[in-house]
Amino acid sequence: MPKDVDIIKERLSVADVLRGYITLLPAGKNFKANCPFHQEKTPSFIVSPDRGRWHCFGCGEGGDIITFVMKYENLEFPEALRFLAEKAGVQLASVNPQHQREFGILYDINEEAKRFFYNSLVTNKDAISYLTNRGLTKETIQEFELGFSPGGESLSMHLIQKKYDVRDALRAGLVYRNTRGLYRDRFDSRIMFPIINHVGKTVAFTGRVFGSASENPDNPKYMNSPESPVFNKSKVLYGLNKSKGDIAREKSFVVVEGQMDFLMSWQCGIKNCVAISGTGFTEHHLERLRRLADTAIVSFDNDEAGRKALERTLTLFNKFDFHTKVISLGEFKDPADALLKDLMFMKNAIESAKPAFQYLFDLYFSSGKVKNDLALKKRVVRHIIEILATIKSSIEQSEWMRELSRSSGIPETSLSEELEHIEHEKQDGKAEEVPMKEKHQFERRIDIIARQLTSLAFTNDEFRGIVLENKEFMPRPFLSVLENPGAESATVFQMQSTYLFGSADHEELKKEALELIKQLKLEYYKAIREALQREIKEAGVVGDEEKLLEATRKFQECTQKMHQLS
Ligand code: GTP
Ligand code: MN
Repeated sequence: MPKDVDIIKERLSVADVLRGYITLLPAGKNFKANCPFHQEKTPSFIVSPDRGRWHCFGCGEGGDIITFVMKYENLEFPEALRFLAEKAGVQLASVNPQHQREFGILYDINEEAKRFFYNSLVTNKDAISYLTNRGLTKETIQEFELGFSPGGESLSMHLIQKKYDVRDALRAGLVYRNTRGLYRDRFDSRIMFPIINHVGKTVAFTGRVFGSASENPDNPKYMNSPESPVFNKSKVLYGLNKSKGDIAREKSFVVVEGQMDFLMSWQCGIKNCVAISGTGFTEHHLERLRRLADTAIVSFDNDEAGRKALERTLTLFNKFDFHTKVISLGEFKDPADALLKDLMFMKNAIESAKPAFQYLFDLYFSSGKVKNDLALKKRVVRHIIEILATIKSSIEQSEWMRELSRSSGIPETSLSEELEHIEHEKQDGKAEEVPMKEKHQFERRIDIIARQLTSLAFTNDEFRGIVLENKEFMPRPFLSVLENPGAESATVFQMQSTYLFGSADHEELKKEALELIKQLKLEYYKAIREALQREIKEAGVVGDEEKLLEATRKFQECTQKMHQLS
């Protein structure tokens, strides 16, 4: 019986799956595209429909449809498999009970809990009126499936009644065992916000206290489900499952701190929004957002913590080359607060959002305090330059350096010195890192040439013929690829042929092929001469006249052949 993976791969072509995410341009038998996993302007990303694989020659990533979906959607293997199985109309659960036990059941149980919380909210007047007082409409509550958790053991009992194993509820983080070993609901009398992953599965919850429970200082205001096999905090963003379409259309996203900020923004028409919900941004989040958008609009809380979060985030956004703007909240404490009082607030604030650095300069230098205290000013300027140092584009960086000089009153030359100093420090710290391409630096020259020729042989039959005529000069691993062009090990060469030679003119390529073959032969003879040289030396030491003569003759023959070549 074929495995699920094979059935799925048979039904879904690599080109069709990837076309759902990126634009594929035809390139002979293959396709090429700008790599979605690193930033580039000319395509190094090759897709081979024949072989069902993709490979990026820029960043070295590659694989099949499953690894692509895992990387692109931030999913683990079984989740990606499920996602594709649904697309392919393959019944996975029945085929693979192991995955169903480990992952599927956690999705199901979270889904059931979401239903239970939702039904509990509908009958709870206090919870409803809390949400309404905060400005949420019935439609928003429904759309985001908010709920209420009565607590105690009401959810546990419900799940058991629905024939779930309480140990799975434990794994999902919905219940915990108290000191007496009894199962209790984790969320007690809280408003529940389901967290949905990118492919629409409920994977966790955030619960907020309300009413009299919020008076207990030991009771945290917000509480999240713990991480579980289906919930990885660093990969999921609240709201992104709903907003990703609008983010992609507008090429920008608004990021807020909390769930309430998100829901109020959404309700007021800001559909390209996400909430970081208390945790920071991670590279996972940003990799994903970068594929959808190039502009980030930050609207964090109007306090010290919010400013710190902004600066941390800005550094990360710079690394991913986002254009970052910041919203001024004025007197309001956060977006939810502002929107409760003024429905149009965010729309207007987005219109007049400032570039992030402008926002920071205004923030720091508008008060007399920094202007008049030289020590403080030095600290602030250095701090800002540290953030400026993370900007990728040097044009943009120098623009902001000029602006910083204007805002701070410090001459640009001094600022530039400081920047250089900071960049030096950064580089010193980096010296330990191993460069990405190191592997290839140790590759022998003959292998580099053979690699190119092997790829070239995949462009057309004529070149394949030319290369095969000279196969005696090819190192063994490449020869084996040439002789088994359908083998798995040949796949990357087939794709590399598109990458290296896809757009080249036939006559140009032919010249290149002949030149490469000449170089291959030269390298080949060079290697033989080195071996002969060792033989000659050995024969001299042991006094083997015959061997010495023979080796010397061969050496001269070799030298002659090299002369003829060049
Ligand atoms: P509201 O009072 O409901 O408007 O909350 P808020 O969004 O204004 O909360 P705040 O600005 O204090 O925090 C922003 C976000 O951080 C919240 O929405 C939560 O996602 C998260 N957060 C806040 N407090 C806690 C906490 O005690 N524990 C955890 N895990 N997260 C929290
Ligand atoms: Mn807030």
